[in-house]
Amino acid sequence: MMTEPETIGIFSVIRERRSVRNYTDREVPDEALRAIIAAGIQAPTALGFQPWQFVVVRDRDLMQRASDYCKPLLLEKIGAEPRPGMEEFLAALENPEFSIFYNAPVLVLVLGARDAVSSVLDCTLCAENMMLAAWALGIGSCWVGAATLVEQNPGLRAALKVPDDHQVVAPLIFGYPAPLPPKPARREPRIAWVP
Ligand SMILES: Cc1cc2nc3c(=O)[nH]c(=O)nc-3n(C[C@H](O)[C@H](O)[C@H](O)COP(=O)(O)O)c2cc1C
Repeated sequence: MMTEPETIGIFSVIRERRSVRNYTDREVPDEALRAIIAAGIQAPTALGFQPWQFVVVRDRDLMQRASDYCKPLLLEKIGAEPRPGMEEFLAALENPEFSIFYNAPVLVLVLGARDAVSSVLDCTLCAENMMLAAWALGIGSCWVGAATLVEQNPGLRAALKVPDDHQVVAPLIFGYPAPLPPKPARREPRIAWVP
């Protein structure tokens, strides 16, 4: 008989993880970030290429600069074709106080080598491992796709140590969660069984 999945730790971590957008001021220790990255690199990669690099950013002024750079670009991009559900984010982007990094204490960029066959897919699997590992350590995270726009700014690329032969695939923020809203519900999966 199969073990009840709900009783296995990894299932509860997967079920409970949610994107955290409200953090306490507590710093995430280097050892925790190393453990999170160590979990990330256990992900499978096409042809075993492991095409990633990581940048750990604790410089809040630099994060602020990156956020200030991305916000108007996002407003232009999303504002041009607003979709239902984006109203709150659009309004936040108009607020000068709002940071796309939600005042998280640390940002980790998962960079993918441009010459690898499946860089984006590989780094995405790595990023999910990292977010799950973080949750298991009591650390919240959020993938801030909005921050990939920093790629367009040579000064920010340099400050963030993004080499020319790598792209920013997953900008992940980490920190200890302040009180959380409920996790967004999931739709029932559509599953076809053959036969
Ligand atoms: C590729 C990707 C990009 C995302 N970009 C953002 C972002 O820029 N800002 C943000 O607040 N959340 C971002 N998210 C988080 C999603 O909004 C979130 O995962 C989704 O709403 C489901 O919520 P949950 O992670 O709490 O289950 C992103 C997630 C993914 C996978």
